[in-house]
Amino acid sequence: MKPASGIAHGLIERLGRSSRLVVLTGSGVSRESGIPTFRGEEGLWRQHRPEDLATWEAFDRDPVLVWSWYDYRRRIIADAEPNKAHRAIARLEGDFDDFTLVTQNVDGLHERAGSGGPVELHGNIWRARCTKELTTVDLPGNPLARIPPKCTVCGSLLRPDVVWFGEPLPMEAYETSHQAASTCDAMLVVGTSAVVRPAASLPLVAKHNGAFVVEVNMTYTPISALIDATLIGKAGDVLPKLVDALLDRRSGMRSGNDHQDAEAENGVREPTAS
Ligand code: OAD
Repeated sequence: MKPASGIAHGLIERLGRSSRLVVLTGSGVSRESGIPTFRGEEGLWRQHRPEDLATWEAFDRDPVLVWSWYDYRRRIIADAEPNKAHRAIARLEGDFDDFTLVTQNVDGLHERAGSGGPVELHGNIWRARCTKELTTVDLPGNPLARIPPKCTVCGSLLRPDVVWFGEPLPMEAYETSHQAASTCDAMLVVGTSAVVRPAASLPLVAKHNGAFVVEVNMTYTPISALIDATLIGKAGDVLPKLVDALLDRRSGMRSGNDHQDAEAENGVREPTAS
């Protein structure tokens, strides 16, 4: 029997009992805010070649083209609002003492939804970086007054503070996320095709270290067969139900109403006290 959330009881039990939770998100979590994903039918990489827009070579060749593309994306994001999935993730954060949100997204919508300090693996589209001094600056209003923007201190070109193809991830963000994935006891993977590494390896690192790993996606992904469960559906539909059920269960556990499910429905056998 499935509860009202439509999500297997055993899955809620396993997530509810975890004390160190990691949530990893990709562009699918922002799709219902009207922000395009990268792959799939309407994905950005269907219309544009990454090597023309998201590499150092492309920027070196034509900084105006690259900045115009990021400015176009910033305009879409500026008009967007966080959706139910972003807000559900922010609610989860408040219930776990040890919680890490890791995102591949550069849109800043998690923070706008109330999440505090997500680990941004691929940078942030609202920042630029000086190509000479490597200092970062917050970008002013939208659209940019001048393209390409220049550093106000040294006059060198600014570049978007995002990770391009062929570039390493920001070291601190990578180390924090890898550490969190290695030590968590549960991970939720939301709206990512799980094909871009090293981000796509994090669920496998978590699984390898004994965590219970669940993904939420419109479709199966290359990691589906390697993790514990896939919840198929829109993040904005699935996550609020999942988080409601999870917070309910955790509140029951705290108030001592912990009589449920020594043996969970999805075949997961919970340890029992002897
Ligand atoms: P992708 O476009 O590769 O994948 C988006 C995923 O979201 C797909 O698996 C979709 O099925 C899923 N999806 C779409 N709408 C959804 C919804 N409403 N609810 C739940 N899932 C949904 O985007 P990412 O995995 O984020 O990197 O791509 C990873 C990286 O590749 C990006 O960060 C970007 C890109 O190149 C850089 O720019 C460095």
